[in-house]
Amino acid sequence: MRQLLWGVASAANQIEGAYDVDGKGLSTADVLPGAKDRHKYIFNPKEMIDKSFDYYPSYKGVDFYHRYKEDIALYAELGITCYRMSIAWSRIFPKGDEVTPNEAGLSFYDDVFDECLKFGIEPIVTLSHFEVPLHLVKQYNGWADKRLIAFFERYCKVVFERYRDKVKYWLTFNEVNSATKLHFHSGATIPEKDTNLEELGYQLLHNQAVAASKANKLCHEICPKAKIGCMVQYSPVYPYSAHPEDVLEANNFERDRELFALDLFVKGKYPFYSKRLFKEKNINLDITQEELSLLVEFPADFISFSYYMSLSYGRKEIITELTNGNIFSGLKNPHLQSSEWGWQIDPVGLRFALNRLYELYQVPLFIVENGIGVTEELMDGTVDDDYRIEYLRQHIEQLEEAVSDGVDVIGYCMWAGTDLISNSTGEMRKRYGLIYVDTDDNGNGTYNRYKKKSYYWYQAFINDYLTRE
Ligand code: BG6
Repeated sequence: MRQLLWGVASAANQIEGAYDVDGKGLSTADVLPGAKDRHKYIFNPKEMIDKSFDYYPSYKGVDFYHRYKEDIALYAELGITCYRMSIAWSRIFPKGDEVTPNEAGLSFYDDVFDECLKFGIEPIVTLSHFEVPLHLVKQYNGWADKRLIAFFERYCKVVFERYRDKVKYWLTFNEVNSATKLHFHSGATIPEKDTNLEELGYQLLHNQAVAASKANKLCHEICPKAKIGCMVQYSPVYPYSAHPEDVLEANNFERDRELFALDLFVKGKYPFYSKRLFKEKNINLDITQEELSLLVEFPADFISFSYYMSLSYGRKEIITELTNGNIFSGLKNPHLQSSEWGWQIDPVGLRFALNRLYELYQVPLFIVENGIGVTEELMDGTVDDDYRIEYLRQHIEQLEEAVSDGVDVIGYCMWAGTDLISNSTGEMRKRYGLIYVDTDDNGNGTYNRYKKKSYYWYQAFINDYLTRE
């Protein structure tokens, strides 16, 4: 049985700040407004990118760009053995379509990786975590245009060559299965009026699948010791009841949101049900034979996924109340409690998720996000977050059960090390960290770091795990 990696996770645009420093270009994440306006505009990108808002949380993030040494020192003391982070593509290629990379951006990540490696922390690096150079949206309409595949390939080549001796685990696109629904966020695309949105979503996914296959190929050529995985948001979908149609609807829901993308990225094939699906929805994709061969020849080495909740689904007529969800929402499950933001908490679902994904795909799995967002206040220099300790304890217990079931798990990264900007809401007050960061929804505060009670719990857990017989 392999020894698991234990870590924390983050994303460049939610922590770094320094949005225009050292040559960085604007990215799609830099036009997402703060909490007040985020929700309204996130599904209306056309209006959003030309409007000016009073606050953009990614501009400052939690100032990791200037404080990475302090944060990594805190992680070293925590005892983690891996750190999931992402590279901001627009630091390396500010516009995205240049030929020469930005040296200052490359050297920033050299410093970050060196700092991690100094403490024996393995960097786990996402190539594109919900951000694409903004110029690629304005000039090409993002992933709707196949020219992005070559730009992404060039970016991958540069970072693989540069960091080949520093990074052993790469992830291609964060929560790539959301591309079919979140056209701007995940696909960096602004749909034209009268577009068949479902068709667009599948084209975005296809183009990213081809780009990921090219990245997988390159990664193996340039960094033979490295592994490269896909990354999805996975929530197991329970039938709302034993009614046969609830079972069928739940199955279709899981296929639509999750398994379809996994089939493409891991099996390298369009699922058997795609023909009927595309026919019924009048979806006609631009797919070449050469691309189909690439998909099957260069699939992901492993599946990484975020796990925050399970979902439940059923017949249309029983859908009365939907829960809030990370990206996808489902029916309210009466057996589960929810977080303040309405995300259903289900530790057993994690064991089920691991078993299900392993059974279906038979490749190693990596949990690269799992955590709970809570409004918290600093009291006497700390936060007594017993609820987070309980959340982590229960999820990790189920993860260990899955490992005992025989599932091959590479590691676990909780979301998050420090508090960071919420992706969906743009809020700072939705706090996920083991470490409190003193700033608020409007960017006020000292940005100083304070260890929460959960920091010490995770530290003790990792130490115990690593010293087990
Ligand atoms: C995942 C994303 O969807 O969930 C992260 O990969 C995100 O970027 C995390 O932050 C938690 O979601 P949120 O919206 O509460 O920040």
